[in-house]
Amino acid sequence: MGQPKITPEDEAFSMDRNLALEAVRVTEAAALAASRTVGRGDEKAADRAAVDAMREALNSLSIQGRVVIGEGERDEAPMLYIGEEVGNRQGPKVDIALDPLEGTTITAKGGQNAIAVMAMADEDGFLNAPDTYMEKIAVGPGVPESVLDLDAPIGDVLAKVAKAKSASVEDLLICVLDRPRHEEIISGIRAAGARISLIQDGDVSAVIATTEPESGIDLYVGTGGAPEGVLAAAALQCTGGAMLGRLVFRNDDERARADRWGITDYDKVYATNDLAKPDNVMFAATGVTTGTMLPGVRRYPGGAQTYSIVMRSKSGTTRKIEATHNFHRKTGFAAVDE
Ligand code: FBP
Repeated sequence: MGQPKITPEDEAFSMDRNLALEAVRVTEAAALAASRTVGRGDEKAADRAAVDAMREALNSLSIQGRVVIGEGERDEAPMLYIGEEVGNRQGPKVDIALDPLEGTTITAKGGQNAIAVMAMADEDGFLNAPDTYMEKIAVGPGVPESVLDLDAPIGDVLAKVAKAKSASVEDLLICVLDRPRHEEIISGIRAAGARISLIQDGDVSAVIATTEPESGIDLYVGTGGAPEGVLAAAALQCTGGAMLGRLVFRNDDERARADRWGITDYDKVYATNDLAKPDNVMFAATGVTTGTMLPGVRRYPGGAQTYSIVMRSKSGTTRKIEATHNFHRKTGFAAVDE
């Protein structure tokens, strides 16, 4: 009997699998570094620690990566800027969406729900979203995308979501960022009789919460960062669920950012597949501070425990990974080794 023949498809498949697990190392490194700054009141230091660590870990991966969603445009972000090439330039070509620290304010205040997050896809797998706001509405699996609407009165959308879930509107729990700009949405939800979970920050985890029955969240709605919208859509491509997004421009400078990425229709409503293509997406996140999705980094003398989630759209697998890090040994990442 000869050796089984390994096809290029087999190779690509196992590479994806390995890459997904490698991605966790990247978010773990960012979370570990950021965890040193929890509660110190210094948002910049928290972000810098996460960015340095994520970049170093990313550059150890066998990929030819290109940052599509990153820390900002090249002239404003020294590292992990949009267009930056990352990886050791030896593996597959992948596009990367990342947020080394989703929840800088949360981390600085020692609050809940900060995560380190990244997603990978084949080339052109993500919307080149400018760093502007985005109106978003998202649901977990089982509710069709056609139920979502960014223009209909929120009460009408809630009635449809309730029907799709065979629930009553009063049973629904809607997650909204606690911002003055959401006053109208919040009163609309209350008028319809649904319940609300107001969060201070962190709408990537809030969107993912709609896919987790134990979170109790049925719908996420409101305006947050556009890059976070792409990251959330990447996660939904793995777990199931749907989302609509529309860019929000506050001035000509923001419109010019969109122009640079070839966006001509400023009012376009992006569906889940426009934000992140479904075919080959990987998503990884590690908790920095404890939240609905993941426990935060638990530090103790000589080490730390991290909690991560990693998902792949191809297989639909979600893994939760608890890792023990020994600070007396070397990881090989200067930004993490103590
Ligand atoms: P940062 O970690 O970049 O601060 O983002 C936190 C966040 O809450 C996002 O989850 C959300 O999309 C955005 O900020 C909302 O923006 P704003 O704080 O300006 O309302």
